[in-house]
Amino acid sequence: MSHEHFRKEVDESGGGSILRRYSSPVVSAKTSVSMKYELKNLATGKVAELNALSGTLGPDALDISHLVRDLGVFTYDPGFMATASTESKITYIDGDAGVLLYRGYPVEQLAAQSSFLEVANLLIHGSLPTNAQLREFQTSITRHTMVNEHLLRFFQGFHHNAHPMAMVSAVVASMAAFYHDTMDTHDPRHREIFAHRIIAKLPTIAAAAYKHTLGQPFIYPRNDLSYCANMLNMFFAVPCEAYAIDPVAAQAIELLFILHADHEQNASTSTVRLAGSTGANPYAAISAGVSALWGPAHGGANEAVLDMLDTIGSAANIGKFLARVKDKSDSVRLMGFGHRVYKNFDPRAKIIRAMCYRVLDKLGIGNDPLFELALILEEIALKDDYFVSRKLYPNVDFYSGIIYSALGIPRSMFTVLFAIARTAGWVAHWQEMASDPHMRIGRPRQLYAGPRQRDYQPIAGRLA
Ligand code: CMC
Repeated sequence: MSHEHFRKEVDESGGGSILRRYSSPVVSAKTSVSMKYELKNLATGKVAELNALSGTLGPDALDISHLVRDLGVFTYDPGFMATASTESKITYIDGDAGVLLYRGYPVEQLAAQSSFLEVANLLIHGSLPTNAQLREFQTSITRHTMVNEHLLRFFQGFHHNAHPMAMVSAVVASMAAFYHDTMDTHDPRHREIFAHRIIAKLPTIAAAAYKHTLGQPFIYPRNDLSYCANMLNMFFAVPCEAYAIDPVAAQAIELLFILHADHEQNASTSTVRLAGSTGANPYAAISAGVSALWGPAHGGANEAVLDMLDTIGSAANIGKFLARVKDKSDSVRLMGFGHRVYKNFDPRAKIIRAMCYRVLDKLGIGNDPLFELALILEEIALKDDYFVSRKLYPNVDFYSGIIYSALGIPRSMFTVLFAIARTAGWVAHWQEMASDPHMRIGRPRQLYAGPRQRDYQPIAGRLA
């Protein structure tokens, strides 16, 4: 959004204040100040001066931290539609252009040339690792894959049909019980050990949750396998026979994990930052992120997409289904469509759709009926004015479930896989926050709309 556009919107709001922009020299700060704005209370004439902070890419952000001091007002922005909660150097999204950069590198280039662990290293450290750095990182991750045997016993407390996300969230939070006294969030080495442990152990915990739902014995990690191949082995191997890891499956998971690794200040990452900002144990903060990811508006959408495709059943029913989606009195949404930031194709969805063709072909199920239905649904929705006018496009979750399904992964595990990949991003953001000397506890304000102060009524005198 340009500065001019912003000024116009505010000026036309008809409210009691106006926001004016005027140029000022760039000053050096944590983030540079490129412009100054004025917010004026039209009733009192009182004025507050606001700095517009410029990042390296994207629109400026107005620094409103002195508004209460200067004008005695808060800002109101439910859902954080226009609020940057932090400065970050990790991931950049241009939602209008459909661009996603990790540390400046386009996700398409990383998807074509990198590995998940290299991307995790990039997200955490800020630059592409050398050979030696990557080997050291891989070795460290590989050596942290086992979990404490006592932690594994936690699974016995869950019913066999517990949702895996509930188990993973609970067991990740329980890791704080194993690594609490030894975790000083101010110590860079402690932060690094935490980062390696959580990235290494998430697949092990996920596999334990899956095996628990099946009633099969837990399969220990194998350090001779790559990160994704090891995860597949822990999911699908059984002690009584050899299991051959399909390289197509391992490659597909690797690619999906790269695409899911980070997405700047999304709901779960913001949750990790908020929980972490209190100084809470970082394993507990990651668990909070797992819980936030679970919802169908966020990472739970991949599971919901396949449920939706099942409900639709066949192409003949798409019209009826979309009529429900467009009916504002009906709560049905087209799952896997729309995004808070992308108002264009989600670049991840494009890559995953192309991957669907390759993976399904290689697995010999090129004419998978759910994929065919999804393609027709996408085509119809993209021509429909409801979706066109609202700039609703397929997001990362529209096609990812189809690949997971083809690889034999059950629906309830889809969001768990998302969580494994996103752990890289959560860790990078938590590290960025925990090592920032300016970090403060995250504590939003509110617009109170409840009753004014009133006196307690003894129960006998209360009216029904
Ligand atoms: N189906 C039908 N209508 C939709 C959809 C959808 N999937 N998404 C948005 N809309 C409509 C919405 O009703 C609203 O219409 P109107 O202006 O008439 O009231 C308009 O589009 C704007 O939507 P919004 O809900 O205000 O947008 P938001 O930014 O608050 O929500 C979203 C973003 C992703 C939660 C939403 O698009 C959605 O619910 N999509 C389906 C769930 C989904 O696929 N989530 C995965 C997101 S990508 C993976 C991740 O990063 O977690």
